[in-house]
Amino acid sequence: VGRVTSASVLRSDGSTDYFGSWQDATEAARRDLVELEYDYGPHLLPVQSQPARGMWRYSGLLPLTSEQIRYPVVVGGTPLVNSVRLQATSGMAHLLVKDETRGPTGSMKDRATALVLEHGLRNGADTVTCASSGNIATSLAVGAAACGIRAVVFVPASVGLAKLTLMLLSKATVFKVTEGYEAAFTLSNRAASHYGWLNRNTGINPMTIEAKKTVGLEIWEQLGHQVPDVVVVPVGDGPTLCGVAKAFRELVACGAATRQPRLIGVQAAGCQPLKVAWETGQLPRATATNTIADGIAVAAPVSAPQVLRDIRQSGGAFVSVTDAEMLEAIRTLAENAGLVAEPAGAAGYAGVGAAVRSGLLDSGERTVVLLTGTGLKIPNALQPVTTAREISASVEDLARELGTDA
Ligand SMILES: Cc1ncc(COP(=O)(O)O)c(C=O)c1O
Repeated sequence: VGRVTSASVLRSDGSTDYFGSWQDATEAARRDLVELEYDYGPHLLPVQSQPARGMWRYSGLLPLTSEQIRYPVVVGGTPLVNSVRLQATSGMAHLLVKDETRGPTGSMKDRATALVLEHGLRNGADTVTCASSGNIATSLAVGAAACGIRAVVFVPASVGLAKLTLMLLSKATVFKVTEGYEAAFTLSNRAASHYGWLNRNTGINPMTIEAKKTVGLEIWEQLGHQVPDVVVVPVGDGPTLCGVAKAFRELVACGAATRQPRLIGVQAAGCQPLKVAWETGQLPRATATNTIADGIAVAAPVSAPQVLRDIRQSGGAFVSVTDAEMLEAIRTLAENAGLVAEPAGAAGYAGVGAAVRSGLLDSGERTVVLLTGTGLKIPNALQPVTTAREISASVEDLARELGTDA
């Protein structure tokens, strides 16, 4: 098990402060970002013979003491899909898809939920809160219910019905906030301070990046301890991308890798503040979002300094994709690779095409794309181009429909 040796706070003006513990750093951070450092070395890496245990396989690089894991839901250990059909369709001979739809609530958010609640269980938390466009709150509601911890979640009033239903099914206390996600985020943070609740919020709780890091560690292990050339990641607030970046940084620090992959962040054309900031050096003022991809519709990303730093350090880039491109990506993934994605989840795959077209990605590069969320929770975003025909149960009817002899 790794020892957290220091925690740093990356201030929004780009400066960094260092602290002896992540608790002190979190206290001092307010809305700035806390990052943890470990006593890096090969001793933190999992050994081959260890049983898989999902994301807990990487406990050495997580801020955990060696106690038995208490979180009761299985998370992590998702497949790295090698689809020959998808490779042919995309023209990317070495494309792999990290299928994060396999978590308990079908999104990569389940990893961060697991680590936050593991800490909650160890510290006797009775209530946990978050703000969310949908997936984080669904994940937290389901995970907290399994732990016997109360979840109080704040979502935009426009939240999708299936996600909301899952939150309510898990008996979470759900508040729909009229003014939308950013206001829900502020309210959730204020409620956490006021009531002393455990705060799972993105960009506030350093556990979210630590947990998301495990996806990068899995990719490295699934590739036979190799680093891919490029990882393509849908970006809303940014911790998913920051987690992947930190995974490969720490593999280098542990002596397990000699380089990091280039990171390509994918935003929605209708909400691309980080792409604009990357291009112009200035984060634009938050404006109304205009995309079906609710998971990446974050107009005022709190993790902006960290995401921009990580993209820059990796030699990567941002691209944006339209709603139509995401819908097309959803169809392509379903038709070719047995993968069912939601719009934000498919944004990464759509971004692969955009990156190739703009010369940011070479079709021969070993590329891993993160598929971050399942389409099963947003059935109205699955827009097939074919329809079902109703027939009577007779071979003659069937033959007529198929245009064959009976
Ligand atoms: C499906 C999906 N993909 C990607 C993201 C973006 O994650 P992040 O906010 O860490 O950038 C989200 C966040 O809600 C999401 O739900």
